[in-house]
Amino acid sequence: MQQILYPSALSELLPTLLAEAPVPDRIAVLTDQTTYQHCRSLLGNSAATAYDIVIPPTDTHKTLDTLSQVWEGLQRAEATRHSLLINLGGGMVTDLGGFAAATFKRGIRFINIPTTLLAMVDAAVGGKTGINFGGLKNEVGCFADAQTVVVCTELLRTLDDENLRSGYAEMLKHALLTGTDCWARHLRFDLSAPDFDILQGLVRESIVCKQHIVEQDPHEKGIRKALNLGHTVGHALESFLIETQRPVLHGYAVAWGLVCELFMSAAQAGLPTDVLHSTTRFILRTYGRPAITCDDYDRLHALMLHDKKNVAGSIRFTLLSDVGEILIDQTADRTLIEDALDFLREA
Ligand code: GLY
Repeated sequence: MQQILYPSALSELLPTLLAEAPVPDRIAVLTDQTTYQHCRSLLGNSAATAYDIVIPPTDTHKTLDTLSQVWEGLQRAEATRHSLLINLGGGMVTDLGGFAAATFKRGIRFINIPTTLLAMVDAAVGGKTGINFGGLKNEVGCFADAQTVVVCTELLRTLDDENLRSGYAEMLKHALLTGTDCWARHLRFDLSAPDFDILQGLVRESIVCKQHIVEQDPHEKGIRKALNLGHTVGHALESFLIETQRPVLHGYAVAWGLVCELFMSAAQAGLPTDVLHSTTRFILRTYGRPAITCDDYDRLHALMLHDKKNVAGSIRFTLLSDVGEILIDQTADRTLIEDALDFLREA
């Protein structure tokens, strides 16, 4: 199982971690400009002599050009096969940095230190790395495990409200995949006045859920597709809102995708309607609704047809027959998909 450490302060853990055999001959730290400013100093003295590679922030820079900047940075750092890359940042940094490390000199070791909730519970864990390419998200990449993922939940205390809500959507997804007790506890959590002690416990539970699934199917041939719950509709909404110059954070689109895919689960897989309605109430209260109309359905459907999980042109969904009862590779009629979007707009 991938090693996940939960230190209360990064600077206390790093000296021990970096001294572990095999000791790296060079250390490089990858951050984006924002994370460099706010979090680089948290690494403390043990990373003081590391070579810094600083890239532009946000998903728009998860590109081949930025990847090449990281490879160049590793060359300037004179990194060898025995060097270590520390990816300090959100999902963009851990995805791109993981891919840079996995390909530089055919693979060097890397450590992920996620600084956002979304990266802690999802991007930094489970070995998916990559970049966007040709207008498509995560189009080029590979599976490569970070040697260690360091989750310092203290960082969440200073995370902005929108990013906290965004990451929480993936936690809610993990809870729906886990079981009734876990799901009910996630619905009781109040994101308008977050209790950080409770949140830290929920983050650990969420990571355990993801690890448990990834361990059974690291390369997404089967059960790992469960982690796509909410994402078929969610990715289409996310791309559509980018296209129409109204971008939202990933987790908001996933939360709305969950509403649609739970509606479809209730309609064709027997998900109890009280699960649909209580989850929908929580999501609409926390994330509001996307600004879409029925005129947008053709484009949303076309975007779903581009999903990587599709088989022979047919859109595939992960659905639930109950909380924790997972059905992968499900198909659905276009009418049901549109009914689900109506439900999201009008429920
Ligand atoms: N983000 C879904 C996965 O890691 O499979």
